[in-house]
Amino acid sequence: MQSIVSVRHLSKTYDDGFKALKDINLEIRKGEIIALLGPNGAGKTTLISVICGIVNPSEGEVLVDGNNIITDFRATRSMIGLVPQELTIDSFSTVFAALSFSRGLFGKTPDPAYIESVLKDLSLWDKRNNRIIELSGGMKRRVLIGKALAHQPTVLFLDEPTAGVDVELRKDMWGLVRKLRDSGVTIILTTHYIEEAEEIADRIGIVTKGEILLVEEKDELMRKLGKKQLILDLVEPLTSLPESLLALSLEVSEDGATLTYTYDTQGEHTGITNLMEELRDAGIRFKDMRTTQRSLEDIFVKLVEEA
Ligand SMILES: Nc1ncnc2c1ncn2[C@@H]1O[C@H](COP(=O)(O)OP(=O)(O)O)[C@@H](O)[C@H]1O
Ligand SMILES: [Mg+2]
Repeated sequence: MQSIVSVRHLSKTYDDGFKALKDINLEIRKGEIIALLGPNGAGKTTLISVICGIVNPSEGEVLVDGNNIITDFRATRSMIGLVPQELTIDSFSTVFAALSFSRGLFGKTPDPAYIESVLKDLSLWDKRNNRIIELSGGMKRRVLIGKALAHQPTVLFLDEPTAGVDVELRKDMWGLVRKLRDSGVTIILTTHYIEEAEEIADRIGIVTKGEILLVEEKDELMRKLGKKQLILDLVEPLTSLPESLLALSLEVSEDGATLTYTYDTQGEHTGITNLMEELRDAGIRFKDMRTTQRSLEDIFVKLVEEA
């Protein structure tokens, strides 16, 4: 698939010597919703800020539709909309004027009908003549989205769009993001909420400590999560696995009291019947059993711990 944003060997060291990004490589596909998922301080905002040309990289380059973000700043920047993480507007101008102004900044001709449609999509049409300073936090966040969309960007960055946003508005936001994607806009959002990435993204990139640990199709990631574990509490602790069981995906706990068998729920055979026979033949008895499903959360925590 065609890529719309290419991030190549990107590193960022802040003036105080802190290395916030370490050799990031990322291809963002045209028309996708990609979620950059990572804990606070992982470098998500820094990455987005570099891609949008707000923060200079220490090394590497960013291309937007083939154009360099630094040497072709005007052309690339006008393709991009950015909704910042912080609520930065406490303006005395009206909602409608703020969006029109943002559009003008990018040299686009005024288009009141377009601004109207954006405000309607954001459920802000009723507030179009209110001053921004009079709005609630959730409304201000929507105004920020409106401002980012005012110049009709083809790539939209949303930095933690639903942090501190109530459940209802979060759903509206996801609906809007999908609608934008369906209209051809590429969406890059950052989040530290796993459920958010799971709910909305086509692909998920996991970011931690300035690195991208993996980028994967959400469905693929979820398929991997289809793995379940069968945990057996043994009658007598084991010190090691008998030879006959080594080929199975079995793990003995440190104290030898439990055996964990990992299997794929989507596979044709789980191998559980075979496991039971092998255990019986090896004389291993158990007093209890349970299954657990690995969640995205587990995978995430494990990946971040390993890094
Ligand atoms: N201007 C700056 N100067 C020095 N360090 C910074 C600056 N901005 C961010 N950092 C540091 O870079 C790291 C990544 O920050 P950030 O990109 O905001 O992470 P995230 O958005 O994933 O929470 C953090 O440790 C943060 O303290
Ligand atoms: Mg951030």
